[in-house]
Amino acid sequence: MSRRHGRFVAAIDQGTTSTRCLVFDHGGRMVAVDQHEHRQHYPQPGWAEHDAAEIWRNTLRVLPGALDSAGLQPSDLAAVGIANQRETTVVWERATGRPVAPAITWQDTRSAALIEELNRGPTAQLFHEVCGLTPAGYFAAPRLRWLLDHVPGLQRRARTGEIAFGTIESWLIWNLTGGPDGGVHVTDVTNASRTLLMDIRTLDWDQRLLDALDIPRELLPEVRPNAQVYGECVVGLPGVPIGGAFGDQQAALFGQTCFAAGEAKCTYGTGAFLLMNTGDQVPTSSHGLISTVAFALEGQPPVYASEGSIAVAGALVQWFRDALEMIRSAPEIETLARRVDDNGGCYIVPAFAGLFAPRWQPDARGVVVGLTSYVTRSHLARAVLEATAWQTAEVVEAMSADTGIAFTGLKVDGGMTANHLLMQIVADVLAVPVERPLVAESVSLGAAYAAGLAVGYWPDLEGLRDNWHQAAVWQPAMSEAVRRRERDSWDHAVQRTLHWVR
Ligand code: G3P
Repeated sequence: MSRRHGRFVAAIDQGTTSTRCLVFDHGGRMVAVDQHEHRQHYPQPGWAEHDAAEIWRNTLRVLPGALDSAGLQPSDLAAVGIANQRETTVVWERATGRPVAPAITWQDTRSAALIEELNRGPTAQLFHEVCGLTPAGYFAAPRLRWLLDHVPGLQRRARTGEIAFGTIESWLIWNLTGGPDGGVHVTDVTNASRTLLMDIRTLDWDQRLLDALDIPRELLPEVRPNAQVYGECVVGLPGVPIGGAFGDQQAALFGQTCFAAGEAKCTYGTGAFLLMNTGDQVPTSSHGLISTVAFALEGQPPVYASEGSIAVAGALVQWFRDALEMIRSAPEIETLARRVDDNGGCYIVPAFAGLFAPRWQPDARGVVVGLTSYVTRSHLARAVLEATAWQTAEVVEAMSADTGIAFTGLKVDGGMTANHLLMQIVADVLAVPVERPLVAESVSLGAAYAAGLAVGYWPDLEGLRDNWHQAAVWQPAMSEAVRRRERDSWDHAVQRTLHWVR
């Protein structure tokens, strides 16, 4: 364990829409932040790409940006941790550090044909048993397969070891530690658990799954625990150890200190992701949830989680703002929706990339239903918010059905929790209180915790619990009769999305 005497720990949160750097003190309080958005590329319907080089450039902007805003130097940092959008697939040349193609994001549906083939074929059950995942376009390896098939010469070059694959944390760690001049090529167990290639029990790549997708092992990073010094930054934060990495949703579970079995949180970002810690047991779901690694600390057995992944939450507000131009800024949606008492009979189901948990319908597409001349922009705004709440309710129900445990409350975090009306609607449709911690940046806090634990800045998990303070709570206020009626209408609307792609 390396020990530096920095007073703070930094986190890089590389999300779907932006890259941020946050700095925390020992009490888990945020002392600095900087953020930069990157472009979203949609070259065809169903395709969604990022430029990995742009993401790296933005990382190099926000690191000094955050430090400068608080008058800090890299030497003030004990360590840096990374949390990232999961499943987004980057492939680059080791010799030059150049990506060979656009990064294909977790929302992209181009691997649909391969998924269909996999799910019909003899290995579908094997994938499920080994990774805890049913093949779906959401995961990284089918996109890697697509790149190997479509970038000329890539399969051959992959076999010779010229090419590296990684999710975003691998890409950033490789660059931060020196890139072509000696970058470290690693991933962490939570990100690896979203590839479709890692054995969820041994926490290593599984040769049978690599063979099934014909993925050369030479491409792959080494799988590491979440809290461990992977290397030292040579650029960005020179001399600062990289002490941890986490898929962003597992980072939020960690940041919310859900360390014990049964503890759960839901993070509202581009999508919404509800994870429940299931302890040392790999969960099995008969209600459409995913088994995933929650965290693995060095020298300790892994901790697992059950996850309900919702593809479109904040992304619907973004679409409402950017594509429909109904509002100028995301917070405006709350003001607009508050002008009316209900949705006016209108429902929006944002199946933009199919439906994720608990339905997993890749051929669904979004609908707006119940339109009459009565419906205004305000009703639509309300329907946008309700869509996130009802999707949460579906996942909560699936989790309760799997575990036999009824939720008595829900911890939430992420940018959308600033929307009080949305949080009230979530409490209403779940019929349980919803509570938000003082630091709603749980993703970054979780990455910082991992890095701080790795270098001894924080001694253990128990101490971290003291940093959690409740900041807001929303109590349910919807009558059972209204909830049932609205739920019924929502289900009716969801039925309209199914099997749209033929
Ligand atoms: O699995 C995708 C997820 O990690 C994306 O997170 O916060 O960028 O929506 P976010």
